[in-house]
Amino acid sequence: VNSSPRIAAAKPVAVGARPDGATGEQEASARVREMFGGIAPRYDLLNHVLSLSLDRLWRRRVARRFRKVLERADARVLDVCCGTGDLTLALARRGDASVIGSDFAHPMLVRAEQKSQSAANGDRRHGKLVGYIEADALSLPFADASFDLVTAAFGFRNLANYDRGLLELFRVLRPGGQMAILEFAEPQGAIFGRLYRFYFRRILPRIGGAISGSSFAYSYLPNSVGKFPAPQELAQRMAAAGFSEPKFELWTGGSVALHRATKK
Ligand SMILES: C[S@@+](CC[C@H](N)C(=O)[O-])C[C@H]1O[C@@H](n2cnc3c(N)ncnc32)[C@H](O)[C@@H]1O
Repeated sequence: VNSSPRIAAAKPVAVGARPDGATGEQEASARVREMFGGIAPRYDLLNHVLSLSLDRLWRRRVARRFRKVLERADARVLDVCCGTGDLTLALARRGDASVIGSDFAHPMLVRAEQKSQSAANGDRRHGKLVGYIEADALSLPFADASFDLVTAAFGFRNLANYDRGLLELFRVLRPGGQMAILEFAEPQGAIFGRLYRFYFRRILPRIGGAISGSSFAYSYLPNSVGKFPAPQELAQRMAAAGFSEPKFELWTGGSVALHRATKK
């Protein structure tokens, strides 16, 4: 299914996200936070336009995959790197679990809060959405073993240290708890892979830059996906962080991967 030896060999082991020009973890983190803060007002629109609305389907599919835990009224769920809260809401709508969203970019959380208010005012079911908190996913303000499910959609790739991120997610999970990371991947099929790379590297940065006003953010996107560990490597790193049964499934021609694992 996955990366060819040629691609795997060409990729150095990534410590974490390094937006161009960032030298260390602190600087990388600050640049990522500033970048997402800047694009927050246009973030949802761009997500839907650039993915042809597939992003909604992907998040709903994540919620379906974890419906058993989401249907439990006693379950606690944390969605890290929640951005404007689309996955957080999809998880909360799926059942009766208490769901919290966290992110370190304040403007993203403001949008998330507005959306959950308008969902509530429009009487749309939003389950037990406890609320949103501003927090760095590398240093979460929660006690050990607090959650039954921890998720991250399109956010994990932006962490300044992936192994530390995995350890932090592991720490806040209860024994028996599950972790899910939804991320972009690079399709390997000859024709679709080529078409996808053309779209992702040539077209998307132009549309994204024009609508968001940040050419940096939308050239960072394909660059960061290119440097992100291939699915098999991420699965190995999950196991090294202590997770059991790490596995992944590829969606939409291999352009998106859902990684999951359990804390035994
Ligand atoms: C591409 S957005 C994804 C948002 C949302 N999960 C979604 O599916 O649309 C990535 C989010 O990760 C957040 N993020 C990146 N690094 C983070 C960190 N270290 N701690 C908390 N949030 C982080 C950014 O602020 C941004 O809101």
